[in-house]
Amino acid sequence: MSPTSSSRPSQPAPRIVVLGSLNMDLVLRVPHAPAAGETLQGHSIATIPGGKGANQAVSCARQGGQVRMIGCVGDDAHGAALREALEDDGIDTAALRTVAGEATGTALILVEDSGQNRIVIVPGANARVELDEAALQPQLQGAAFLVTQFETPMAPVLRAVALAHDAGCKVMLNPSPMQPIPDALWTQVDTLVVNEIEAEALCGLAADTPQQAAAAGRSLRAKGIARVVVTLGSRGAVAVDGDGARHHPAPTVQAVDTTAAGDTFLGALAVALGEGQAFDAAVRLGIRAAALCIQQPGAQPSIPRRDAVLRQSPLPPDWSTL
Ligand code: RIB
Repeated sequence: MSPTSSSRPSQPAPRIVVLGSLNMDLVLRVPHAPAAGETLQGHSIATIPGGKGANQAVSCARQGGQVRMIGCVGDDAHGAALREALEDDGIDTAALRTVAGEATGTALILVEDSGQNRIVIVPGANARVELDEAALQPQLQGAAFLVTQFETPMAPVLRAVALAHDAGCKVMLNPSPMQPIPDALWTQVDTLVVNEIEAEALCGLAADTPQQAAAAGRSLRAKGIARVVVTLGSRGAVAVDGDGARHHPAPTVQAVDTTAAGDTFLGALAVALGEGQAFDAAVRLGIRAAALCIQQPGAQPSIPRRDAVLRQSPLPPDWSTL
């Protein structure tokens, strides 16, 4: 399968390098999360390709990006399946290393009837990610974005961000699972994508409402980042840049499973920005893509293609300045 057609066929597909994790998700659907000491009967169990890095790579590819994935899998059946899943989406896996004697990363995901999830990760091979700098440097030349998260070790993330910065390649950071952002990163990241919990952890300001998210986003921007997006789940997202803060609402949909909604958003955002679309238009594409994602179960199978996103009615133009 080749990357999906873009809404802008005359644009060359933006090149995006993704450094991050690959997990096989073990997904248990349950009526509700069990309390301590409670034994609960679940509805179903499934094994589904996931991992924040791989999900974001898949989202970039399905939105029309030309994607290279850097990461590690174990030399087991899950690792082979995750590699194949990326290749099925046309993603370049030449920099995806198989680590001998290591297990592929695993995520245990409980999905409640409400669609909410709880995730426990065992990193496995994700903890073994190292950078091949000689191979990475030419990949960063002319790429639209280096996209990365915090599900792989910090040292290669820091080094890759520095190399991207030196190469003039913009960096999109999703600091998830949340860890403090090292000082060096603040001035090297172009676009920061955080949810309300991560925003509060990073700047100490609550970010539960659009107004609060705007204040948190401004505070994060003041640390040296050009653009901040605070995602707010069913309430959409707040975009903050040098022109101020805008709240973009989300369409009302029935959530089946919110897994990979943030990854889907980020991929659409990166590709739209890489195509040269305006920040607000890119955020709105991300919201529309995430709204489709949460209506399907699982991580990678739920990430929509560009044509499916564009078939949805556009969001109403009722974004507000904050
Ligand atoms: O963002 C969703 C992802 O987080 C899941 O696919 C799981 O693997 C964890 O990494």
